[in-house]
Amino acid sequence: MKVLMILVILVSFLQSCVGSFDYYMLSEIWPPGYCHNNPCRRHGPKFSKFIIHGLWPQNTTPCETSKLEEFPRDTLGKLEKDWPSITHKPNGLFWQNEWDKHGSCSMLPQIDYFKLTLDLYGRADIKEILRKEGIVSQIGDVKRYTKYQIENAIKSHPNIDAKPQLICYQGNLAEVRLCFDKSPGHKYKNCSTSYTCPLDNIKLPYLYPKLPVMEPEEAELLRAIPPL
Ligand SMILES: *[C@@H]1O[C@H](CO)[C@@H](O)[C@H](O)[C@H]1NC(C)=O
Repeated sequence: MKVLMILVILVSFLQSCVGSFDYYMLSEIWPPGYCHNNPCRRHGPKFSKFIIHGLWPQNTTPCETSKLEEFPRDTLGKLEKDWPSITHKPNGLFWQNEWDKHGSCSMLPQIDYFKLTLDLYGRADIKEILRKEGIVSQIGDVKRYTKYQIENAIKSHPNIDAKPQLICYQGNLAEVRLCFDKSPGHKYKNCSTSYTCPLDNIKLPYLYPKLPVMEPEEAELLRAIPPL
């Protein structure tokens, strides 16, 4: 009996050591805001949608990483579209970093982790959810929003019904983070509050900051962004 108890304790101790975590946080970038505090690629494509930053298991134990294997073609296509690197890092390096730092803590095989991230991202179109509540990004950046407005637009969406975490740089919305539990269905859960966004006067910028003197092709790209 005693031996059995010790065994049970030992097994649960070992389990808790190997890659356990509490819940998932999905971070989505609003590129024009995110670039206020990050070295965004000068000549890279400009995105006018929320793109994936990463899926981060929270409160993890140490994780063991591995080199990324090649993605199947269709997954690679989706990653390039929805999870591109907007900094100077090439996509492959960005994904490797996200896997090293976060993905490897998920206990999932690489491909499952990347697919889960794409799936959770695909569940809700944040830009559309905000637009329905009149929260839009426009040339001139004239409109300002309160933190409550943005949080509430997302929280009150029937598919989500949980509090997001917002990240701002100098009053510009940079990231929206959504939280999910570990159950197989990955239900939304409340994220912890964050204080990096001011209570009001939040901008959803349209233009990228500190654009250098524009090269013709850069100006072209910028014009190609449809009004939001
Ligand atoms: C989130 O927190 C609120 C209270 O602040 C609670 O009413 C709600 O049920 C929570 N939602 C989830 C999904 O746990």
